[in-house]
Amino acid sequence: MALRILSSLLLSASVMTTQSTAAILSGESFTSMYYDCCKPACAWPTQGRFISGLRTCNANDQHILDDTAGNYCGGGPASSCIDQTPWAVNDSFSFGYASIFIRGADSTEWCCSCYALEFLDSAIKGKKMIVQGINVNYNEDQINWFSLTVPGQADWQGMCEQRFGGTFGEFFGVNATGLTNVTQCDNVPQPLQAACKWRYTWYKNVKGPNATFTRVQCPAELTKVSGCLRADDKTFDASTAKATATFTTTRISSPLVVFATVIVIFVALPEVLGLL
Ligand SMILES: *[C@@H]1O[C@H](CO)[C@@H](O)[C@H](O)[C@H]1NC(C)=O
Ligand SMILES: *[C@@H]1O[C@H](CO)[C@@H](O)[C@H](O)[C@H]1NC(C)=O
Ligand SMILES: *[C@@H]1O[C@H](CO)[C@@H](O)[C@H](O)[C@H]1NC(C)=O
Ligand SMILES: *[C@@H]1O[C@H](CO)[C@@H](O)[C@H](O)[C@H]1NC(C)=O
Repeated sequence: MALRILSSLLLSASVMTTQSTAAILSGESFTSMYYDCCKPACAWPTQGRFISGLRTCNANDQHILDDTAGNYCGGGPASSCIDQTPWAVNDSFSFGYASIFIRGADSTEWCCSCYALEFLDSAIKGKKMIVQGINVNYNEDQINWFSLTVPGQADWQGMCEQRFGGTFGEFFGVNATGLTNVTQCDNVPQPLQAACKWRYTWYKNVKGPNATFTRVQCPAELTKVSGCLRADDKTFDASTAKATATFTTTRISSPLVVFATVIVIFVALPEVLGLL
């Protein structure tokens, strides 16, 4: 009897602790692309617990060491770094960076977290990426949305035009559309051309495919470019690309767990001793 009460108490305690700290580690998402030359939101120190923060760059693409430096899109020096863009490893796998919204989660949960994506439809069905979250998808607040950081998209605020020179549309295509074919990638600033072409080669220029996402430990390939490493990153599985999130269940400071432990001592112990 006492043991039955005890086990149900322990069960509810463990359910409660898991729920109270549970992160959203996987799901299904819409995807799209963006490129805006602004300071990525995850570069602010308030966006999570980081061992090292996300790099930003000045207009000459030199790293800015101060994580509080003002946003280029607000008149400050901190713009996005050119190398935080996608590259293909082989025909079925690419690395990249993304602006993310995960419903029910908070930006401090996805900023600089890495996710394995598997595309579910369109001509790239079955292809996989691992992306690191560098930005917050402020345009979306209802559904999961991973927007890949890929040069050659519409320059909504005209800030890439300002950073790289040229006239609006010359480098980044028409408003709301971006570039329309791979030949136009030859017109974007030279350091952005390879990532621009990735969209037409590896990504096959598909329109907004859906994808599954699963949090994984960040591969060194991504963090050595972005500079960003979260304090909790090591708790995620790198080898199987499956999130284990051990940190959510090993917290023992919950009042319920302490309560259940007290019950063990006062109720179950005499019974256990009686069995010996
Ligand atoms: C592509 O690269 C990924 C990551 O290194 C690897 O897991 C996968 O087996 C490779 N696929 C092919 C077809 O080479
Ligand atoms: C592009 O479109 C957006 C949204 O309609 C608008 O706010 C912006 O001013 C446009 N930019 C240019 C340079 O036309
Ligand atoms: C690419 O798009 C531009 C602008 O619409 C057009 O002038 C050009 O002919 C296109 N090139 C190809 C190869 O389709
Ligand atoms: C993505 O999923 C939505 C609904 O879940 C669907 O309407 C849309 O067509 C899908 N996108 C593609 C490219 O198949």
